[in-house]
Order: sequence, then structure tokens, then C-alpha cells
Amino acid sequence: MTAPTGSANILIAVSGSIASYRACELVRNLTKLGHSVRVIMTPNATEFIRPLTFEALTSKPVLYDEYSSGMPHIEAKYGADIMAIVPATANLIGKMANGIADDIVTSTYLAIQCPVIVAPAMNPGMWNHKAVQRNISRLMEDGIHIISPENGVVVCGDEGQGKLADISYIESEILRILGI
Ligand SMILES: Cc1cc2nc3c(=O)[nH]c(=O)nc-3n(C[C@H](O)[C@H](O)[C@H](O)COP(=O)(O)O)c2cc1C
Repeated sequence: MTAPTGSANILIAVSGSIASYRACELVRNLTKLGHSVRVIMTPNATEFIRPLTFEALTSKPVLYDEYSSGMPHIEAKYGADIMAIVPATANLIGKMANGIADDIVTSTYLAIQCPVIVAPAMNPGMWNHKAVQRNISRLMEDGIHIISPENGVVVCGDEGQGKLADISYIESEILRILGI
């Protein structure tokens, strides 16, 4: 991949976390910077936030149903300079680490060739679970950029590491990896 100069094609994938709504700010900021932003969602993510919100923010259709028509996972991957999964659930991380492709996000992940960023968000108990840490290590071995979650009090009241990283930090990491 040649590093884009100026504006880039950025694919944001959203999974089903309480932090899903925070992807809106990221999408808005990147769009305002002049990048072409496309959003795909897991079907579970649509329980947290409606595709319509991202469609309005990007002026592009949001793909979330793998069986809508054609081959959406192939459509989504074309032209992407970077794929950022924000937020990434424990479930999605586990599927990515094991090569499981049972929805549009995981199928696109396996099909795509550009750099991939994963920004996890989950309960601290989940984040610290050996299975999740094993899956994170595996993704790092696979060359995925992990943006570690932050420490703090999560929505359910538990305290520890698990909060989605700051949106401005995720944005700066996307731009740094793109080299712009
Ligand atoms: C209110 C609510 C909040 C949730 N928040 C998270 C979360 O922040 N992180 C996480 O890993 N799972 C969370 N889950 C569980 C996921 O939604 C669940 O594992 C789901 O299967 C994820 O699907 P996906 O990875 O296909 O999007 C939450 C569930 C509920 C009901």
C-alpha cells in the first residue's frame, strides 16, 4: 500500500458495545478532516446505534447485513487504506484471532489487505480474562495495531482497564499509521 497524501479511505467497523456510540465522534471528526469514511457494523452493533446515524455522518450506505445483496464484505474492503474496529468487543476479538468469519465485519477483516487497528472496549473482568488476553496477543502476532483500553470506572460500575481509549487518541493513531 502506498501511503495516501492528504485524504484517505477509512473503513470504520463498529461492534456491539456500550461504547458503540463513541464511534460517531470518530467518524464525524475524520469526515470533517476531508477523509472518505465508510462504516460497517456487526448485526449486534445495530442494537446499540442505528446505521442511519452513520449514514447521515458519512453520506454513504452502512453495511451490516452480509446477505443483503451481492458480496458486501468484498465491496467494503475495496479501496480502504486502513480499517479501524472501534469499539471492538471481546466476542469480535475472539473471532478475529481465530479466523472466524460469520458476519460482515469478520468476513471483511479476513478479506482486507490494508493495516488494521483494533480499539477494544469491555468490562475489566472481560479484558483481564486469559482468553481475551490470549486473543489480543494473537492479533498482535498477526500484525494488528491494538489501542489498549483505558483504566477507569466502566458503565456497570466496575473499575479497572476496559474503557475505550480516547477518541482523539484513536484518531491520531489512524492518521499516524496512514502517514498523514
Ligand atoms: C448493554 C450491553 C453492553 C455491552 N457492552 C459490551 C462491551 O462494552 N464490550 C463487550 O465486549 N461486550 C459487550 N456486550 C456484550 C456484546 O454485545 C456481545 O458479546 C455480543 O455478542 C457482541 O457482538 P458483536 O461482537 O458481534 O458485535 C454488551 C452487551 C450489552 C447487553
